[in-house]
Amino acid sequence: MNLMRSVLLKAADSKWLAHNLPRFAFSRRAVRRFMPGEELDDALSECGQLAGRGIGSVITRLGENITSVSEAHAVRDHYLEALNDIARRSVPTHLSVKLTQLGLDISLEETATHMHAIAAASAEAGAPVWIDMESSRYVDTTLEIFRRTRAQHENVGLCVQAYLHRTADDLGDLLQTTTALRLVKGAYKEAPDAALQSKKQVDANYLNLALQLLEAARTRTVGYMPAFATHDANLIALINTHAQEMGIPRDRYEFQMLYGIQTSLQQKLAADGYRLRVLISYGSAWFAWYMRRLAERPANVWFVAKSVLRS
Ligand code: FDA
Repeated sequence: MNLMRSVLLKAADSKWLAHNLPRFAFSRRAVRRFMPGEELDDALSECGQLAGRGIGSVITRLGENITSVSEAHAVRDHYLEALNDIARRSVPTHLSVKLTQLGLDISLEETATHMHAIAAASAEAGAPVWIDMESSRYVDTTLEIFRRTRAQHENVGLCVQAYLHRTADDLGDLLQTTTALRLVKGAYKEAPDAALQSKKQVDANYLNLALQLLEAARTRTVGYMPAFATHDANLIALINTHAQEMGIPRDRYEFQMLYGIQTSLQQKLAADGYRLRVLISYGSAWFAWYMRRLAERPANVWFVAKSVLRS
């Protein structure tokens, strides 16, 4: 693994840095490149703007690995209120949640109960909900909670990671039964026994898995929408070529990207008639998430360095 990526992913786990770095104005300024603002209102306003340009959205409140029951309740309540706001303002958006933000480190049962509550409210608000995939030690519990929630609520999608060796097996029944699957490369620091280590291997596996998701789109013509969450222009072009060869129309799959990344590619895809959804993060707990964004493209560190020099 590239040294800079390794250092940045290690920094993402530092509680000291998470507490201290956000206090500096330069770091708050740098993070603005990847999020429109810290408040739910900032995110929803941006969703409205995107909708006006024919681009979908999905919002997520930053935060992970909470350590108390009361924090988990607060996160659940926040999402329930957010869903009320989404319904009241008729903003066409989705929600994305991390299970460790709902207390997965404390109790699987409580987390499942919170997830059921959010999925029920999201069905009422007409805003489907996605479950993020976190580091490999959470995959089994995430799959379990996903399956339990999905058994009662159809409007729940799941993220799967191409860098994990196990994902091809995990996809088995998910491809037959799930209505929404989001394929990502994977953002965490993983050991070689859990995950592919080189970009070349991850990209190759991403394409392999993407073809499986597309094949399901070809055969399951109702109620299934695969989402390819990547900014990788090569992979996106390959996916589009394969979809065309397989006779899958552009409205039967979608691309997802992060707010502020590859914006010209985002605009081009939307202009060419592809479905695109942009993930917008908000909230004050952005440190670990921001370190992972820097790790994805270490050249971003120069952007931070310039912000420091300007401060
Ligand atoms: P790759 O990292 O190879 O980047 C391809 C190109 O895109 C780069 O060459 C660069 O030009 C550009 N690029 C990528 N990242 C950039 C950045 N940060 N800044 C500037 N340019 C950048 N992961 C996970 O483990 N669990 C999850 O639940 C999710 N959820 C999720 C949702 C959505 C909607 C997206 C888009 C991504 C995720 N991810 C995720 C993150 C994902 O695993 C991955 O880390 C990033 O998408 C970066 O990988 P790419 O596929 O973009 O390829």
